[in-house]
Amino acid sequence: MAKVFIKTYGCQMNERDSEQVGASLVARGHVLTPEENEADVILYNTCSVRDMAEQKALARMGNVVHRKRESGRGERIVLGFLGCMAQSRGEDLFKTMPELDLVVGTQKFHRVADHIEALLKARELKRICDTEEELDSQNTIRDHLSVQKAAPCAFVSIMQGCNMNCTYCIVPFTRGGERGRPIPEIVAEVGGLAARGVRDVTLLGQIVNLYGRHEFPERDGKSPFVQLLEAVHGVEGIDRIRFTSPHPIGFREDLIGCYGRLAKLCEHVHLPVQSGSNRILKAMHRAYTRERYLTLIANIRERVPDVAVTGDIIVGFPGETEEDFEETRSLAREVDFDNVYVFRYSPRKDTPASEMAEQVEESVKERRNQVLLADLKEIALRKSRGLVGQEVEILVDGPSKTNPDRLSGRTRKNQLVVFDGGSPRHIGQIMRVRINETTGYTLYGQADILND
Ligand code: 5AD
Ligand code: SF4
Repeated sequence: MAKVFIKTYGCQMNERDSEQVGASLVARGHVLTPEENEADVILYNTCSVRDMAEQKALARMGNVVHRKRESGRGERIVLGFLGCMAQSRGEDLFKTMPELDLVVGTQKFHRVADHIEALLKARELKRICDTEEELDSQNTIRDHLSVQKAAPCAFVSIMQGCNMNCTYCIVPFTRGGERGRPIPEIVAEVGGLAARGVRDVTLLGQIVNLYGRHEFPERDGKSPFVQLLEAVHGVEGIDRIRFTSPHPIGFREDLIGCYGRLAKLCEHVHLPVQSGSNRILKAMHRAYTRERYLTLIANIRERVPDVAVTGDIIVGFPGETEEDFEETRSLAREVDFDNVYVFRYSPRKDTPASEMAEQVEESVKERRNQVLLADLKEIALRKSRGLVGQEVEILVDGPSKTNPDRLSGRTRKNQLVVFDGGSPRHIGQIMRVRINETTGYTLYGQADILND
């Protein structure tokens, strides 16, 4: 039995993949520990979307290697990189870090337990690198960690990979082509989660709305993704359904029509736009225009006037001028985003954008990042101040991360609410909370106990 520490970098897909690795280890009698210093096995599930995420993971593992040498128990600790950086760098990681034992790519998470056991059994067996492609690997991300009291929210991976080839993005290299899981398997997984008390599921993929387009047929004018939403909607015990991330391409009428029609589908859409400049969108290989994006948002709002809209934006893409950036700022204002993840463009190896002339200077990227964040904060503050004095409905998900004496939960629009007046028995329940303060992205309030 080994004590295993897993740290996850990057997106929700990675969180989900780490959970799968954790569940497969626990199923074999190993234990997960939050204490890195006590672990026999240290695994970092890595992200390659930006260089900074890779550097962070490398630097942290560098420190572990150092401690490992000093501590004298070095030889007995297994160190591994999993996921995107493991996939893209492969064997090279052993050259950078000779003390490393394990490198496992994005299609081999289900093999991690075997590899760890082999390494623990035969310490002379140094170094396993497993980064091959595996047909059907999308179907291996399906187990969840069962904790004493199940958290009310869960992620469900519905597909892997992406075929879009946006010119800045490394994901098609690290995660391969699009591959969807069959609807009945996903529904069975969601059913199992509901039986354990989960009420809120988020369907995960790189481009979820294009789910199944290569594998499963349209039916009655409905895309496989819409068919999947309908099927998940039928699972008893689930109250809220979300998905992330869709692509503006393929966000068609059948999907827009799900809002309002499928009562469990939350009033929140996370729709990455990347830029407000048509010139830059084209260079990014994003096959839509600013106008089309705005029309799409307007169409969704026609169905659900109060829908929360969030997105991703990249600043400082090669060739981005001040005018292009101003177009992005004006788009953000026009959309009236509830929140946006802003990324400074980071050149990624072997992607077309990294070879484009006119790379933007870091100082310019940083300034644009700050300017856009300030714009977005202003929008968020205006919107959330409108909620002060009002009651919102939240699903309580646990103690607040910043203050464990309070609880926190999320509205259907995915707003984070930290509140007083609740107790641990409320975790997993839907409650009404009166909002009395906001910092822009977090709301603070008091639970309405009469509702208890
Ligand atoms: N540089 C900066 N941001 C990136 N993203 C993807 N690739 C890069 C890159 N090379 C951002 C996009 C995407 C999000 C997950 O990460 O905005 O939607
Ligand atoms: Fe990357 Fe574009 Fe695919 Fe998203 S849609 S994962 S940004 S290539």
